[in-house]
Amino acid sequence: MSITARTLAVRNFRSYADYLLELSAGTTVLVGPNAAGKTNLVEALQLCCSAASFRRPSPADLVRHGEHRCALELALEGEGRVLELGVAVDGGKRSFVRNGKRCRAASIRGVLPSILFCPDDLDMVKRGARVRREALDGFGVQLNAGYAQLVSSYARAVEQRNSLLKDPCASRDLLFAWDEALVRAGSAVLQHRSALLERVRAHLVAAYAAIAPRETVDVRYRSTVLPDAAAGLPRDREQIADLFRAALASSAPEEARRGMTLVGPHRDEVEFLVDGRPARSFASQGQQRSLVLAWKVAEVRVTRDILGRPPLLLLDDVMSELDAVRRAAIMELAADEVQTVITTTNLGYFDEGALESSRVVRIGGDR
Ligand SMILES: Nc1ncnc2c1ncn2[C@@H]1O[C@H](COP(=O)(O)OP(=O)(O)OP(=O)(O)O)[C@@H](O)[C@H]1O
Ligand SMILES: [Mg+2]
Repeated sequence: MSITARTLAVRNFRSYADYLLELSAGTTVLVGPNAAGKTNLVEALQLCCSAASFRRPSPADLVRHGEHRCALELALEGEGRVLELGVAVDGGKRSFVRNGKRCRAASIRGVLPSILFCPDDLDMVKRGARVRREALDGFGVQLNAGYAQLVSSYARAVEQRNSLLKDPCASRDLLFAWDEALVRAGSAVLQHRSALLERVRAHLVAAYAAIAPRETVDVRYRSTVLPDAAAGLPRDREQIADLFRAALASSAPEEARRGMTLVGPHRDEVEFLVDGRPARSFASQGQQRSLVLAWKVAEVRVTRDILGRPPLLLLDDVMSELDAVRRAAIMELAADEVQTVITTTNLGYFDEGALESSRVVRIGGDR
């Protein structure tokens, strides 16, 4: 059973005073010139689905210039019911609403998970490791509310421990207490990450093979808690915790010298390989793009495997960045598997058949 987004209502959000977007259960194409407000709508959809925006705005940025509050409301339909998810900003504070009642972000996040693919993602393979860790965590938190909690507890533990490491007067006992908090949250994060990556990996390999059959790809988790980063993590959380404790013990002198936590999930790498070699150093531009595309396809399929229903796929301005083969691959996914919203300045990137079966919405002009 799937959950489908039906309408998005935005009020005083970014460039919009008042706007209602009706979505197709299949593909909706938002077409309009630059600065028309296409990405703003994608961001609004992502905020309602994921309680987060890829632009990382402060709450006040979301409010239309000259106004004091904004509101978004996404109506979903599934299992014969209508469900409303809302995000608002008032007085510089963000709040969330589910079926008219104030709630926490966790109550709206992942009801209909969203998977965004935008031009910034295209160089995800060769950028710093943080981008790939965040891609994996950002996906994971939508599938599992407990995971979001773990990720933030771990981040807090790293922050606290780093400030103690920098403080020459900090007591050893206090540091030990934070070591244990770090290990507990960190081992759980590691266990989740490696299990999730294993699921993504299977679909990534298949999706890449469909785009570029002559090459082989892989992805692996390289953890700083392991003596040999290329080795796999054990599945058992207690075994991971033991490895983490051992890694902390051996990095203690250097951590004391540098005043920061040097091992743990916040320093780990998600490494892509093409034909057995690290993609970050060796993959061509086209191979990197195929990898990112395959990653997004894999996210769609993993969501369906885990939740039993597909996510909402948001493709912001990527058609112009992809060649015909990769465009066809993504349109096939959109047509067959998942409700999709695509923005473009130019309908020329779509073949006629795809346009006929999509809802095309012109953005710009009167709002
Ligand atoms: N808080 C705000 N208040 C008013 N306008 C805003 C606000 N935030 C962004 N905008 C405006 O929204 C417009 C950008 O909209 P958006 O990024 O959705 O355009 P787009 O259609 O995706 O364009 P492109 O094709 O160039 O990507 C800009 O003109 C920007 O100044
Ligand atoms: Mg845009």
